[in-house]
Amino acid sequence: MCGIFGYIGKRNDAPSIVLTGLRSLEYRGYDSWGIASLSKKSSANWRIKNQKYLGKILVKKKAGKIGDANVNDLPASSFAIGHTRWATHGGVSDINAHPHLDCQRQLAIIHNGIIENYDEIRKELGSNHKFISDTDSEVAIHLIEENYQRLLTSNSGLKSQDYKDIFWEAVKNSFRKLSGLNAIIVMDIKSKCMIAAKNGSPLAIGKGSGENFLASDAHALVPYTKEVYFMEDDELVLISTDDIYIGKVYGYSKKTPVFSKLSLKTQDVDKGNYSHYMLKEIYDQPDVIRKIVGENNSSTAQFAKLIDNSYGTYMVGCGTAAYACLAGTYIFSKVAKKHLNWAVGSEFGYITDFLTSKSLVLALSQSGETIDVLEAVKAARTRGAKIAALVNVDGSTLFRMSDYKLLLDAGVEKAVVSTKAFTAKLAKLIMLASSLSDDVDKVVNMLKKSVTTVEQILTEKNLRLIRNLVDLIVKKQHIYVIGRGLSYPVALETALKIKEASYIHAEGFAAGELKHGVIALIEAGTPCIAFLPNDETYAASLAGVMELKARGGFIIGISFKNLDIFDYYLPVSDCGVATIIPATVIGQLLGYFLSVAKGLDPDMPRNLAKSVTVK
Ligand code: AGP
Repeated sequence: MCGIFGYIGKRNDAPSIVLTGLRSLEYRGYDSWGIASLSKKSSANWRIKNQKYLGKILVKKKAGKIGDANVNDLPASSFAIGHTRWATHGGVSDINAHPHLDCQRQLAIIHNGIIENYDEIRKELGSNHKFISDTDSEVAIHLIEENYQRLLTSNSGLKSQDYKDIFWEAVKNSFRKLSGLNAIIVMDIKSKCMIAAKNGSPLAIGKGSGENFLASDAHALVPYTKEVYFMEDDELVLISTDDIYIGKVYGYSKKTPVFSKLSLKTQDVDKGNYSHYMLKEIYDQPDVIRKIVGENNSSTAQFAKLIDNSYGTYMVGCGTAAYACLAGTYIFSKVAKKHLNWAVGSEFGYITDFLTSKSLVLALSQSGETIDVLEAVKAARTRGAKIAALVNVDGSTLFRMSDYKLLLDAGVEKAVVSTKAFTAKLAKLIMLASSLSDDVDKVVNMLKKSVTTVEQILTEKNLRLIRNLVDLIVKKQHIYVIGRGLSYPVALETALKIKEASYIHAEGFAAGELKHGVIALIEAGTPCIAFLPNDETYAASLAGVMELKARGGFIIGISFKNLDIFDYYLPVSDCGVATIIPATVIGQLLGYFLSVAKGLDPDMPRNLAKSVTVK
């Protein structure tokens, strides 16, 4: 779940180019960061001060977020690699931060993933190597050093190209030994180039003029180049200033990659004047939904046909995407009179025994890199099921591995707390279901109404209402959220936004479950958020609100009309089946303003990362 970035080329400021790359990848993990660089003709003054580093790799690394750190203390360099960490093995510390070096400071590595057999390899390497950190990653660079030394000693009278070949073989042989899902970038002083290898974790190559790049996410390359190549699993690439060739970890062929053009623009990855990406992405939603409604729907109709013709469709997703899957079951039942199943990605692998070649697995994911979803898809594929993906990141692993794919077109989502990707999934599911219904226009009008309703909620008058509510509940330890029918996944999503962004314990329930135990948690003043849309759930949900009120609950009603029983009311107009979109936006804003009120960073909440690429 880490972010890795590499640069080699004509410019002298490689360390700061890499630092910029790390900043745009920091949502992938922000426990620590680090950069390794190869100094160029440094100033005489610098050489005198840094005798011991001449001809060696320089490293600057620190625990914590990058913040306003700089790398001005690193000398001019045209070759650097960098890492931003989500800790798995070894605590959060400067020592455990990447990059890690070999014993001679001739090789440096940055790693994303988990080396499951690291302990075994460490034991095999034994006392020949000095391990400095508690990480699994450091083991890999000592293994590469071991292979490199062995190849060096068995080859005499070497020319520069030979170092590239030896480096290639050393990394290839070592990567074959690493079990688990990993991506590595290795820097070598002798051959003056970098080699990357991957299986499972994402990695993209960026081709510039006289310079080349590597990054975990293609959008980190946007400021520098639009020429990208998405590495496949078990591929290896060697990159120098003027050379790029790829090969197979378990093969011998080498070829020049075919680059594709990225359609992203710099402003797509920038937060503009918003104080946080989360707020910018909340404000992006009216345009995102409007675009989805306005799209020519031939691809949507085809995709819907696929669902209609399959012998059972199973939606799979994790976290927020799982709640979109749950909402999908209600949307298809209400709009298309069709039953779709859903499952949480990390559990789906245990319930695939019934899948056949007639089954369709529809995977929902913003990043397209969530390992639990990728593994679920792999499990389904082994049973012959067809794979369809509703995904936001073009070129992501899920996008490339699916038989049928529909992009969400929500634009780049950088805040760890997902917002527009969720409502875009809801809008796409409503459009898909509507194309199987007998009244598409009616549903499309509901979606159009949901756009203007979201714009209403984003007016200062309504934002003030939400901020005032935040002042009332920000000190509370527990918040409960209830909803019935389509409002049940909205209740779950609202609770997740509050938890992720503000660290307040919030729990979402199917309102009907209250009396089966949960209501025991309610005491005087306990904040209870209740979604009461103008649909078939209204009366029963109101009864639930009465029961909460009777136990002293502080009732926050989110509904199309105010009621005396509400202690606090937040209006949301009725948009039929599409009411879930503006209702969710209120939940997102509650999470956002609670986070800001507590002085937290909603873009990079503790212990989280934007795409979960380790199990
Ligand atoms: C949502 O705010 C969270 N960041 C998380 O639950 C996320 O939705 C989940 O990890 C799935 O991510 P994906 O959509 O990229 O697959």
